[in-house]
Amino acid sequence: MDAILIERLTKTYQPMWPWERPVTVLADVSLSISRGEIFGFLGHNGAGKTTTMKILLGLLRATSGRVELLGSLAGNVASRSQVGYLPESPYFYDYLTAEEFLCFYGKLAGLAREVIQRRTAELLERVGLTESRHRQLRKFSKGMLQRIGLAQALIHDPELVILDEPMSGLDPIGRKEVRDIILSLRDHGKTVFFSTHIISDVEMLCDRVGILARGKVLALGRIEELVKEHAIQSVEVVCDGVVGAELPDVQSLATRIVQRGERCLVILSGQGHLEQVLAILRQAGGRLVSVIPHKNSLEDIFLERTNRKV
Ligand SMILES: Nc1ncnc2c1ncn2[C@@H]1O[C@H](COP(=O)(O)OP(=O)(O)OP(=O)(O)O)[C@@H](O)[C@H]1O
Ligand SMILES: [Mg+2]
Repeated sequence: MDAILIERLTKTYQPMWPWERPVTVLADVSLSISRGEIFGFLGHNGAGKTTTMKILLGLLRATSGRVELLGSLAGNVASRSQVGYLPESPYFYDYLTAEEFLCFYGKLAGLAREVIQRRTAELLERVGLTESRHRQLRKFSKGMLQRIGLAQALIHDPELVILDEPMSGLDPIGRKEVRDIILSLRDHGKTVFFSTHIISDVEMLCDRVGILARGKVLALGRIEELVKEHAIQSVEVVCDGVVGAELPDVQSLATRIVQRGERCLVILSGQGHLEQVLAILRQAGGRLVSVIPHKNSLEDIFLERTNRKV
C-alpha cells in the first residue's frame, strides 16, 4: 500500500469576481509515495505545493482526480488520525505556552494523559524547546514557532508526516535539527512528504524528489537518477604549452577558449569531441594538465525544469 497516492489531480481556483479568470494550479498531477520514504517536493513560489498538501489533508477540495492517504481517501477521518501536518503558516493559539499547546493537540488526537505528558516532554527536548516550555507562543521567534509546529505534527506519533517547508525560518542549527528529526522518522519506518525550495536539504534527506512547475510534475525520481539522466553538461580541458586560439580545429569545437600565458583552458559543451580535442592539443605539443567534466546538479535540473535558468 502506498503512503500517498495522487492520480490525475487537478485544482482550479474559481475566481472571486466575474471579471477574473479561473486559475488552474494543478493540471493532471500523478504521484505515489511508498511507505517509509522521504519525499521532497520542490517547486518555485506559487507552483502549487501548498495546494497539493491541503488537498491531501482534505483542507481543500480537488477539482478532479483521486487522492489517497494510507489506503483511505483524503479527508477521511481514519486516514487523518495517522497523519501529522505542519502547515506553511501555522495559526497558533498564541496565549498558550509551548507545553500547553502540545497538550492541547495531544488531547485533540485523543491521546491518554500519561502519553501526552511523555510525548510532550520528549518532543520539546527533540526540537530544543525544553527551556521555553512555560513561555507563551506569542513570545516565540519565527524559528521557535516552526520548531513547536513540528513538535505538534508529531505529537500522536503519526505514520505519515506532511511538512510544508519545515526548514523555513530556521537558523543553520535549527535546520540541522529538523533534518535529524526527519531522518530519525525514517529510521522508525515513517513516511515524510515535505516541500521546500532549499535544494541542499533535499539532496541530504530525500530518497526521491518531485519537481512541480506550471501545474505539472516535471521531474520525478531518485536524485542520482535525475542527475544522471541529465548527464554531463560541459567539460573543461586545461593544457600547457599551446595557444588554443591558433588551432582552428579546437576553436571550432570549443564553446570557449581562455588563454593565460602558456596555459590554455578549453571548454567543450559535452564529451562528444573530447578525444579529438585532446589529440589535437597533444599533437600541437601541449601538456595535458586536467580534464574536468561538469555534471548537472539537482539545482541545474530544478532551474532548467522550472524554466528559470539564470
Ligand atoms: N484561494 C486561492 N484562490 C486563488 N488562487 C490561489 C488560492 N490559493 C492559492 N492560489 C494560487 O495558486 C498558486 C499555487 O499556490 P500555492 O500556495 O499552492 O503555491 P506554493 O508552491 O505552495 O508556493 P510557495 O513556495 O510560495 O509556498 C499560486 O499562483 C496562488 O496564487
Ligand atoms: Mg506554499
